[in-house]
Amino acid sequence: MVILAIESSCDETAAAVIAGGEKALSNVVSSQTQVHRKYGGIVPELASRKHIETIIPVIREALREADMSLDQVEGIAVTNGPGLVGSLLVGLSVAKAIAYARNLPFVGVNHVEGHLSAIFLENPRLRFPFIGLVVSGGHTSLYRVDHLGGYACLGGTRDDAAGEAFDKVAKLLNLGYPGGPVIDEVARDGDRQAVFFPRAFISKDSFDFSFSGIKTSVLHYVRKHPHARVEDIAASFQEAVVDVLVSKAVQAARILELPRIVLSGGVASNTRLRTRLQEIAEKEGLEVNIPSPIFCTDNAAMIGVIGHYYLERGRVSPLTLNAFSNLPM
Ligand code: KG4
Ligand code: ZN
Repeated sequence: MVILAIESSCDETAAAVIAGGEKALSNVVSSQTQVHRKYGGIVPELASRKHIETIIPVIREALREADMSLDQVEGIAVTNGPGLVGSLLVGLSVAKAIAYARNLPFVGVNHVEGHLSAIFLENPRLRFPFIGLVVSGGHTSLYRVDHLGGYACLGGTRDDAAGEAFDKVAKLLNLGYPGGPVIDEVARDGDRQAVFFPRAFISKDSFDFSFSGIKTSVLHYVRKHPHARVEDIAASFQEAVVDVLVSKAVQAARILELPRIVLSGGVASNTRLRTRLQEIAEKEGLEVNIPSPIFCTDNAAMIGVIGHYYLERGRVSPLTLNAFSNLPM
């Protein structure tokens, strides 16, 4: 089955053509970073407007790259939550319009479920069950994944998402927006042991996270040490976040006796996180699977994977489907 997938939940307008639920024939992502940069964060109203301008050209480009016309598309998958409702509605409305005009089956899918499915684009033979850690700008959650569509949430953040912490710390270090990639870059020239920022492990048997404390510690440190090297602070902060993420994922695998961990979401493109998780997991005899960075940050290919899974099983959404800022899996 050939699927056109559409994603517009946040500040990326994306479309992809997916064959057989695993092969990305195209994966086009148009980022709005330039629009939001001067505000230091995403402005929802501007995001919706930009999606409206970009969505059709992005879909056209996805079809062109896949060397396909709409006549060859057999189904439509679209993110309908969680995310910014105004942004989600743009992708959702276009998806509905194409589905209606072409009489195609269409399915709305959960963005986080998309992140968890991204790994199958490059590793279609990956075996279940696994521990899935989704780390993005809006989410930091641990799941036990038994099959696509079958998840048990083990824990999540009690305050900021990991990506949000990266973005806020970058802002207070005057590193600009978006924070994750800049901190990743700057931290390469820093000393990870320069400052010890507190790691919030909550309790030994909790799989919940908390990142607002680390962010506040960085703020206090910067105020007290105005001449400290930004590279060192960035590297030390990143190390604290990575430590917690890696420890919780490995602990979950150990306690649930699962042999593999899958990391996904925008923060999964962080070089230090990727390296640390590989190192520790190897020591523990665990298998680690991380999508390429392009499939970690928001994209439509991952939406196509999970959309294909549901469409193949006959799950279709009605054309009255709505967008939701919160959408449980
Ligand atoms: O998955 P994503 O593209 O969008 C959401 O679903 O939120 O994740 C975006 C988040 C942002 O907070 C961004 O700063 C963070 O992922 N991010 C990174 C890196 N690249 C993106 N965080 C740390 N290191 C990176 N290299
Ligand atoms: Zn995302």
